[in-house]
Formats: sequence, structure tokens, C-alpha cells
Amino acid sequence: MSALAGRRIVLGVTGGIAAYKAVEVCRRLVDAGAHVIPVLSSGAQRFVGETTFSTLASEPVVRSLWDIGVDEPVPGRHTSPIPHTRLGQTADLILVCPATARLIGTYAAGISSDLLTATLIATTAPVVICPAMHTEMWDHPAVQENLATLQRRGVRVVPPSEGRLAGGDHGRGRLAEPSTILDVVHGVLTPPSLAGVRVLVTAGGTREPIDPVRFIGNRSSGKQGHALADEAAARGADVHLVTTVDRAAAAGVRCTRVDTAQEMHDVVLGELGATDVVVMAAAVADFRPVGVADDKIKKDAGVPTVRLEPTPDILAAIGQRRRGDQVVVGFAAETSSVREHARSKLERKGADLIVANDVAAPSVGFEHDTNQVVVLVRDPAAETGVREVEVPLQSKRAVAAAVLDVVETLRNDRRVPPTR
Ligand code: PMT
Repeated sequence: MSALAGRRIVLGVTGGIAAYKAVEVCRRLVDAGAHVIPVLSSGAQRFVGETTFSTLASEPVVRSLWDIGVDEPVPGRHTSPIPHTRLGQTADLILVCPATARLIGTYAAGISSDLLTATLIATTAPVVICPAMHTEMWDHPAVQENLATLQRRGVRVVPPSEGRLAGGDHGRGRLAEPSTILDVVHGVLTPPSLAGVRVLVTAGGTREPIDPVRFIGNRSSGKQGHALADEAAARGADVHLVTTVDRAAAAGVRCTRVDTAQEMHDVVLGELGATDVVVMAAAVADFRPVGVADDKIKKDAGVPTVRLEPTPDILAAIGQRRRGDQVVVGFAAETSSVREHARSKLERKGADLIVANDVAAPSVGFEHDTNQVVVLVRDPAAETGVREVEVPLQSKRAVAAAVLDVVETLRNDRRVPPTR
């Protein structure tokens, strides 16, 4: 299950132009299953409409220390009609996005000047802040010292990136991307259940060149593989992502960029001995042209004949060389008889589990942000020798979490000790 499902997140929004990006962060948190309570400072209310957040979030916006009626009391927890203590006590995490220099200074000084700063001081929940401001302000020693103070106290800071700022300026101070912010929130809320485990994930579609400008490829965007790598990293794993796509990965994920099935094969098999869990989410071409033309094939020479040969089957090779304590996860992209085909791949390729997706179904498989899968797990205790875990349509990150839950159960059943 996603680490965000059902978690109460207070989303503090302060007054900067980047407040409009907090709307997207709010939407993504809710999509990931979090219960989001937006708290808008008076400055934020000048930049974004309260109605926008109230519509997208799980509860209406709370604006002031004198707002009452913040949801129902949580059983077993001390309750109070004062919003800041209620918010602070019931939150699983407080995210301030964007955080202005003023918010950072006030919070570091321990001053509760409004509902958000009072909530920050009244909480023992983890706090993540995402600064956004002009470069000169970001570089100011007072801001940097305040941030250092907060970090010493355990506050997680998502540093701003470099880019276009308000008024057309350019420099550091731009709010981090929503996906980066979500990764940090995931990381903070996810127990490090894979700490010390070496996980290798493949992602994207391979490209098999025909000539210097053409290739045989497929529609894989790499989203599912990258989501698996990010989720494994959030669980504390030591992750190596072998990918064909230029997508950002979560902090700490080691990336190797490859193009062809052969390149992917060489990297993955080279790393196999130093890996505990392998997840083959990549869409690897089954065939490649025999030889690559040195020059672009010319149209006026007529329709060319491209002879094909099989690529190495990476998953099958892993299945042959693997150790018994390793967990090997294959995927199956099918358009019909999904379970039958996936079952046959489980048998043939020596995997412990196969994650099967019906890529002809709406919102499933290639390119989408969502996926729906059935995980077939080798299980001698099951009547058919195979156990099935249904994973309903949801974000690829949530599907990744469900797949890694199965991997963890398998490791626990086998009592695989941590490697380091
Ligand atoms: O990347 P996205 O746009 O997010 O889409 C996700 C996805 C649809 C690509 C993903 O969910 C998925 O299904 N990946 C596997 C695609 C695939 O190649 O399936 P397959 O049924 O052809 O292959 C079965 C397994 O063998 C896969 O684990 C594949 O990685 C592996 N394989 C295949 C051929 C080959 N030569 N070597 C392999 O290792």
C-alpha cells in the first residue's frame, strides 16, 4: 500500500507566487490517497483562491487561529477546539509549500504569529518545508542560518531549484518540482522496510537501431519502472535503475542509461551477483535488426528488407543464473488471456513473481500515469502452485508499492537476512 494512503497531511501554503504550484502538490497528495488539510496564510490567500484548495483537498481551507470546526476528533487523542493544537496533534506530516523567508524566520525563532506557525510549533509530527524566493533572499545569511537551525531540529528542507523566477529573473530560488516534493513526503512517511537491500530495476523500452536515425522501439515511457525505483528508494533500499529514458529519479537512486536490449543485458547480468531483488519492468525488444547500416538507408533504393534476430532474453538469463535467496520479478505486457500468458512466463523465465498488465485496457500499461495488475506469485502452498494478488487501477507509484509489498512478504517468508 502507498505510504500516503490515509495519512493526514497538513499542507501549509505561504504567500509567494509559487503558491499556485501548491495546488498541483495538493492534487497529487490526494491522488496518492492522503487526507489533506490546507492551511493558507494571509499572504497565500492573495495569490491563490481558497476555493481552489477547498475543492481539491480533503477538507476545507483553514485560515486563522479563530477558525473552528476542523473535522471530527480522533479517538484516543487529546482534542481541543483550538485549530492549531488539533491540526498539530492529528497530523502525520506537515508540509509547507511554498515556504517564504518570513515563514522560515518565524518558525526558526519559535514565534507563533498565525495559524500555520502556531501549528508548526504545536506539532511533534515530521515537518517538510519547500522554500521558494528570489535568489538574493535565498542567499542571505539570515535565511541560510534559519534553515540550518530548522534542519538541526529535524525539519526536512526540499531545496529550491534554479530557473525562472517572478519578474523574469533567473536563478536559484524556484520551488522544487511537485514530483520531487512528493518523493520527499513519500520518503519521510515510508518505514525503511528495505534498508540495506540492493534492488535493481529496469525501466523503459529498448531501442534497436536499424541505421543511424531509425530504430525498432515500443511505447514504454519508463513511468512504471521509475515508480518502482522511487518506491524502493523511499523504503531505504540501495537502488540501481537501468533505464532507457531521461526521467528524473528520486534522490539516491543510481541510474545507468542504456538503449538496446544487449546493453541492458550486459549491465543487469554484470550486477546480478551484487543484487538482492531484480525487477524487470522494462519493455525489452524481442527482436533486433541483423547488423546496423552505417549510413541512413535511402528511400530511392526501394523498400528495404530488414532481417531480424532475437535479442538476449534478460529475464530468462537471470532465471538461470540467480541465487535462491534473490527475488526475481518479471513483468508481462499482454493484450489477451493475461493470466495464462503470465503464468507461462512465470514457468519459463525462472522468476518468483510476474506482474501482469492488460495493456489493451483503458488507463493501463504503456504511457499512462496509472496501472492495474495481477501479481502471480510462485507459492508451493497454493493449490495451483501460484498465488494471485489483484492490484486495482491506481497510480503507478501505488502499484509499485503493492508489488514491493509482495516482494517484502516473500523475503520475510524466506527469512532473508538484511545484506548489510
Ligand atoms: O513504461 P510504462 O509506459 O510505464 O509502461 C509500463 C509497462 C507496460 C512497460 C510495464 O508495466 C510492463 O509490462 N513491462 C514489461 C513489458 C514487456 O516487455 O513484457 P513482455 O511480456 O514482452 O516480457 C516479459 C518479461 O521479460 C518482462 O519482464 C521483460 O522485461 C522481460 N524480457 C523480455 C524480452 C527480453 N528480450 N528480455 C527480457 O528480459
